[in-house]
Amino acid sequence: MTAPLFIALPGNAHMAEKLAMLCGSELGAIETRDFPDGETYLRFRSDVAGRSIVLVCTLARPNEKILPLIFAAETARELGARKVGLVAPYLCYMRQDRRFQTGEAVTSRPFATLISRACDWLVTIDPHLHRYKALSEIYAIPARALHAGAAIADWIRNNTEDPFLIGPDEESKQWVSEVACDCGANYAVLHKQRLGDRDVRIAPDHLDRIGGARPVLIDDIISSGETMLEAVRAVKPYTRRAPIAIGVHGLFADGSDKAIEKEGATLVTSDTVPHASNRIDIAGLLAPAIMDFAG
Ligand code: R5P
Repeated sequence: MTAPLFIALPGNAHMAEKLAMLCGSELGAIETRDFPDGETYLRFRSDVAGRSIVLVCTLARPNEKILPLIFAAETARELGARKVGLVAPYLCYMRQDRRFQTGEAVTSRPFATLISRACDWLVTIDPHLHRYKALSEIYAIPARALHAGAAIADWIRNNTEDPFLIGPDEESKQWVSEVACDCGANYAVLHKQRLGDRDVRIAPDHLDRIGGARPVLIDDIISSGETMLEAVRAVKPYTRRAPIAIGVHGLFADGSDKAIEKEGATLVTSDTVPHASNRIDIAGLLAPAIMDFAG
């Protein structure tokens, strides 16, 4: 049986190259462009017939990425691919996981249906599993959620002395407690109130425990950046040391990366979404899971 063929959707070439190398596989070629009216043109430049295809497409700012991804998956099948999997280091549309207000779309569900129809399997890193406990609650295909916790703990151990870990809200407790345990560090979880997409309040509970340690904030997603920004502001009166702000997925809407840095924090992210703050490499975490599904 031939090795899987990795295909990078636009913006994913670097990750796809690393994954293909780690999996001892080759990188195929795809051409995509916009027609003058904005519709998508897509053409496989490699032969996919009979191959196991691995589409690599991180899904930050997803709306412009989803149609080309679906077109690629469907076309690979039409051209005779044996199976088509999706590696989405960042998986979008996981946070709208219930109807918070009457009439709202629970977008996580129709999005999962769309991907489950187009692909045979899915691998991702730390999807926002909060009210859903597992991807299998909404995805109808084999789907594996890997955790960046150990890689974050490694980074902290190798780059920080005497860290004190802080989760900005209750939802972050799962990551922070695991990483703190791995690093042998103390941690605290703050209380967040979200009043709007860009309006959060954070209570500075337990922060007098920081003492002389280095505050290290950890969250799964930095999106508008308000959660991290408010957490950094809450921490600053309790420490003389510059905080480190770690996000698994740095989406950084509206220049929030600059705002967090301006507040005096050092930003560190994993490379699930390409950004200047990428310090934590997750390709090695993805490769074995990909080979389980695509091999
Ligand atoms: C919340 O549920 C998540 O864990 C993150 O805290 C949240 O997505 C961050 O969003 P933002 O950067 O927009 O405050």
